[in-house]
Amino acid sequence: MKLHPVGIIGSGKYVPERILTNQELEQMVETNDEWIVTRTGIRERRIAAPEQATSDLALKASLDAVAAAGITVEDIDLIIVATITPDMYFPSTACLLQEKLGAKRAAAFDLSAACSGFIYGLATASSMIASGMYKHVLVVGAECLSRITDYTDRNTCILFGDGAGAVVLGQVAEGRGFQSFQLGADGAGGELLKVCGGGSKVPASAESVEAKQHFIHMAGNDVFKFAVRIMGSAAEEALHKAGKTKEEIDLLVPHQANIRIIQSALHRLDLPEEKCMVNLDKYGNVSAASIPIALAEAVEQGRVKEGDCLVLVGFGGGLTWGASVLIW
Ligand code: UT7
Repeated sequence: MKLHPVGIIGSGKYVPERILTNQELEQMVETNDEWIVTRTGIRERRIAAPEQATSDLALKASLDAVAAAGITVEDIDLIIVATITPDMYFPSTACLLQEKLGAKRAAAFDLSAACSGFIYGLATASSMIASGMYKHVLVVGAECLSRITDYTDRNTCILFGDGAGAVVLGQVAEGRGFQSFQLGADGAGGELLKVCGGGSKVPASAESVEAKQHFIHMAGNDVFKFAVRIMGSAAEEALHKAGKTKEEIDLLVPHQANIRIIQSALHRLDLPEEKCMVNLDKYGNVSAASIPIALAEAVEQGRVKEGDCLVLVGFGGGLTWGASVLIW
């Protein structure tokens, strides 16, 4: 079977207006701007308005991506939303988004792979287009992490923010588009980063709320060590599969978790900082939305040119990781 080349034909992003600064966090927990900036690189993050849910952020990013792709919502065959903060258990956020967009022809489902979810979504969508099953797939990473963040826990509350990024995938010219995907998981590390309350194991109850089980719990330092190891190796494996070398990378678009994690990936890949998209100073860690927001912003800033070799790489809860090599 001949596979069609598949790439990103439009991208978009949306971040809420409300900015939560490090100075405000200093008033909430025992922390300070200097610690946050030196240990994470984050200066501020966005927080969704009370009336905004994940699908609302996803809608704005998706409308941008659809317009940039030069298609209409009627052209979308499938919507995949990668998120760990769905509007509700079900219907899926993808179905809620489908209705808001008016994308009547589209099938829709959510994908759960935490911060790696967007790359997992790209891999899924790209295979479906490559096989000829679909022509246009909307892949969204969208999160309202503020809704599951404990603002009395200084280990986590300084990190996370809200936002959404979206891309439309479609057929592209021969030699362009996705060249490889490298996905992985290690369920043995699941305990390191989780929200355990509200599922079938620990259903919501007064006790689960009291025990803060509906918030993110993280063994930060263990996740940090895993991230440093996996970001470089996942990117290298994706490059190898694509038959590319690290010297050929024009732009690295990493998951925006911590500047020190990104710097270690740059070191491993022998890349100068100019070849890396960083915007975590403004938005913090937005889980599945981090990579698509960074990508959309890189496109907005004119940092991505036709024919450029991009590497997208992320890691997250599960544990999971994913990397992709893409010719723009
Ligand atoms: O998308 C995936 C999600 N997660 C991540 O990517 C997280 C990865 N991990 C990290 O980014 C880092 O581990 C953190 C930023 C979370 C923490 O940095 P660290 O260098 O690993 O610090 P640590 O946890 O080893 O803590 C060092 C010290 C501790 O004090 P003691 O025990 O040495 O006295 C912490 O209590 O820093 C303290 N600390 C803080 N101090 C001021 C922890 N959080 C804060 C804080 N402000 N917000």
